[in-house]
Amino acid sequence: MGPEYLVSKRFYVTTPIYYVNDKPHIGHAYTTVLADVLARHHRMMGEEVYFLTGTDEHGQKIEKAAAARGITPQQMADEVQPNFEKLWQRMDITHDHFVRTTHAQHKAVIQERFQQLLATGDIYKATYKGLYSVSDEAYVTEIQAKELQAQGLAHQLVELEEESYFFRLASYENWLLQLYERCPDFVQPDFRFNEVKQFVAPDGQRGNLQDLSISRTTITWGIPVPGDERHVVYVWFDALLNYLSACREGFWPATVHLVGKDILRFHSVYWPAFLMAMFRKPEDDLNGELPQRVIDQLPRSILAHGWWLMGEDKMSKSKGNIVRPEELLHFGNDAARFFLLRDMQIGYDRAFSFEAFMDRLNADLANGLGNLASRSISMLQRYRGGVVPTLEGKGLDDDDRFHGEALKALPGKYLAFAETHQFTKALGELWDYLRGLDGYIVKAEPWKLDKLRDDPRAVEKIDVVLCQLYRGLRVTALLVAPVMPELAQLLWESLGLPGLVAEQRFADFDVLAPAPGPVSDPKPLFARIDKDVAMTEIDAIRAAAAPPASVVEAPLDAPPVKENIDYDTFAKTDLRVGLILEAEEVPKSKKLVKMKVDLGFEQRTILGGIKEAYAPADLVGRRVVVVANLAPRAMMGVESHGMLLCASDNNSKPYLIAPPEDAKPGFVVR
Ligand code: MSP
Repeated sequence: MGPEYLVSKRFYVTTPIYYVNDKPHIGHAYTTVLADVLARHHRMMGEEVYFLTGTDEHGQKIEKAAAARGITPQQMADEVQPNFEKLWQRMDITHDHFVRTTHAQHKAVIQERFQQLLATGDIYKATYKGLYSVSDEAYVTEIQAKELQAQGLAHQLVELEEESYFFRLASYENWLLQLYERCPDFVQPDFRFNEVKQFVAPDGQRGNLQDLSISRTTITWGIPVPGDERHVVYVWFDALLNYLSACREGFWPATVHLVGKDILRFHSVYWPAFLMAMFRKPEDDLNGELPQRVIDQLPRSILAHGWWLMGEDKMSKSKGNIVRPEELLHFGNDAARFFLLRDMQIGYDRAFSFEAFMDRLNADLANGLGNLASRSISMLQRYRGGVVPTLEGKGLDDDDRFHGEALKALPGKYLAFAETHQFTKALGELWDYLRGLDGYIVKAEPWKLDKLRDDPRAVEKIDVVLCQLYRGLRVTALLVAPVMPELAQLLWESLGLPGLVAEQRFADFDVLAPAPGPVSDPKPLFARIDKDVAMTEIDAIRAAAAPPASVVEAPLDAPPVKENIDYDTFAKTDLRVGLILEAEEVPKSKKLVKMKVDLGFEQRTILGGIKEAYAPADLVGRRVVVVANLAPRAMMGVESHGMLLCASDNNSKPYLIAPPEDAKPGFVVR
């Protein structure tokens, strides 16, 4: 047989690429750990694995976050990106490549593909006239507008007319629906797949998809549209294509894209449609049958998980309720990895609490596996000098047979759950088995049997129990190696097994194989957590992390000082302390906020160009300095009387000048 027959199965797994506007939180750690577990698991299945992660560095989010810090978006990306790489190193993540969308190679692919689709007519230029959602940075259909109105969010909508490049998403509706029909595992779990189908064709009704705007002129931080550089490529076209631009030769298409539920639509609708456009032949009929050769270029599956919540809320910076991975890592990397996989059932949301986290570790790692391993290995040493007895020729009672059967069934059950990415269930199955072994020891009472050394049946029973415990622990080390690599290796070595457990292959493993040598001293796997002490430690970690991330100083870019004026000219300016009573966005304006300001002697309407730096809700209650005798003037149809003082240079956001809290509205600033 030629070498082509020896090529093993390939497994290409990806995480979303993370935005660089903030440090990683446990949501990011969760997805990456899950991808890592899949990668390690498939390596142990003997497959060739390519595991890709990275950062998404373009777009308005980054542009804004950088402006708020007074640095360039590239500086922001360069500063934040290493936090991800360092964290992945600390969490033993075994990715093969880290892609950054600001890298030249990625940019070249985006521009090339954009041009390709322009040439095929899948991308066209047009003028968009309609509604735009400011908060989602997206055009809004009539139906979506009604939904927003119903939710009281209509103030986020503005009328807009602008030139944009569009992707012919509507033309791919037919092929997308065929894809969903023919590939029932394309999106997992099922209930998430239903949401996707419902989005594309609500109640089976066609004609809902609209073409997708894939360029922006309102943003500068992005990849320029080739030949029309006023436009930058829409961040999702840029981001999704990372899976293609950073794929390794021979691994296309992806076996699994891991995503959170919030970005499922991008991956299950836009992404396959982009790929269909890229891989179809010009003569293919979009209204006809979707060719198999096109399906062959599409990802095999998209696995959508839910969110880690705090109470009922999504973790977010503005709510200040983010749990950082460092806080979990305080208990060890394996513990953090184990918890994330054990407690989150894929697809569903899960509320996080330190209480539950510590309870889980104490129950499953300190008491459960840790205790069982140290007890079993100590008994092997004490009663049999570390040598693992065999079962050959030994009589078995019902209990022994029951545990022997449970052992034989375990790998099959575990691997079947793992195969369908249900690690919560796989680990649950394994821990049920371990609990069973605990019961087996309690019932057999080897410490009593050991006193009956003249009774051959007692001697035999100890042999059988110890042998089965050894086998159970050995297969446990093997199965959990992808989840807890370090702990699994420790256990492996304690059992006197040679080499690296991660290099074992599930298929070659024989649960009944004889033990190669004596066991070593039991190595403590996991120390019990004292919850009160641990909580104080966590508080300390949080407090230490609380100060804002260090600011990279951008060089000052302020205009030169203006010519001198005399004192009398200056004295004509009347500056007062004001208190903002109300604030709202001025529709259709990118910058303006309309405020009602109390000046002590009267209340005024004042417009300020500070929308990009301050949310209206955050302005209410602030004290500001007002130029009180500036002549009124109308902007966007609203009369503004007065001006708020701000500090900034040409690049930074405007910082409102804030008088102290006890300064009364109307105080003169002089
Ligand atoms: N840059 C895009 C993805 C582009 S992929 C081509 C993005 N980045 S993100 O940093 O905002 O989010 C990345 C992932 O983290 C998403 O899958 C999201 O679902 C996940 N999580 C963000 N918060 C989360 C939780 N609280 N819990 C679990 N995962 C969550 O979106």
